[in-house]
Amino acid sequence: MKRKPSPRRAGSVRAPRTPRAHGATDARGATGVERKTIDRALSRLGLCSRTTAKELVLAGRVRLNGVVVRDPERWVRLGVDRLEVDQERVAAQRKLYLALHKPVGYVTTRSDPEGRKTVYDLLGDVGRWVAPIGRLDRDTSGLLLFTNDTDFAARLLDPTSHVEKRYRVEARGRIDDEALEWLRRGVELSDGRTLPARVELLRRSKERTLLELSIVEGRNRQVRRMLEAVDSKVLKLARVAFGSLELADLAPGAHRELLARERNALRR
Ligand code: URA
Repeated sequence: MKRKPSPRRAGSVRAPRTPRAHGATDARGATGVERKTIDRALSRLGLCSRTTAKELVLAGRVRLNGVVVRDPERWVRLGVDRLEVDQERVAAQRKLYLALHKPVGYVTTRSDPEGRKTVYDLLGDVGRWVAPIGRLDRDTSGLLLFTNDTDFAARLLDPTSHVEKRYRVEARGRIDDEALEWLRRGVELSDGRTLPARVELLRRSKERTLLELSIVEGRNRQVRRMLEAVDSKVLKLARVAFGSLELADLAPGAHRELLARERNALRR
């Protein structure tokens, strides 16, 4: 639902809510203290998503240094300001990093308006808020990571970090060498050309091509659209690795915590 704009008297000038440059959402002041908007600060602390944080603020459930705040874009000095939700101090949550083997048939969302099964039905209660690092389509299976560490997630999702996601693709028809080369070099999609990819041909017949495709981007339905761009169609899609982390023998529907060495390898 759209919020009603607040009435403003003609000719009135509203003082800036916070002393910040237009559009900025985080910064480090002269003292070296890191500052974030309050919605980002709450999600950075691992409490909830930014969307939920905004809702909490707008509902008047968040206090900053003892005073109720109603502006989700208020600045907060991390580690200095006192933040409370429902009068309970918000402390940094223990960071949690999970790997789930998502089966086909589950949507990557917290709750689905159409009532379909979601990846959170598979995770169950893990004791704190976690968000998926990227998404897998309902018809895609494989490795899906979750965390409450928003910096870690942002880094893994940034194409400039060059973290490869490897997919096993079963595609319709025989994809010839020339088309495989197009996939490697980048194909033109409606939202721009794809970055170079790694393609390994595993098997091919007149009816089907089986390959592994590694990409550093994570655009919506990217692999499916890349295959369409070479006149094929994905019949089956599974993510088998995320960076250095392999799906390996994690059973479909099961999840586990990442080991420290696995997290560190992903950070590199
Ligand atoms: N590319 C797709 O097309 N779908 C996915 O789920 C992941 C990558």
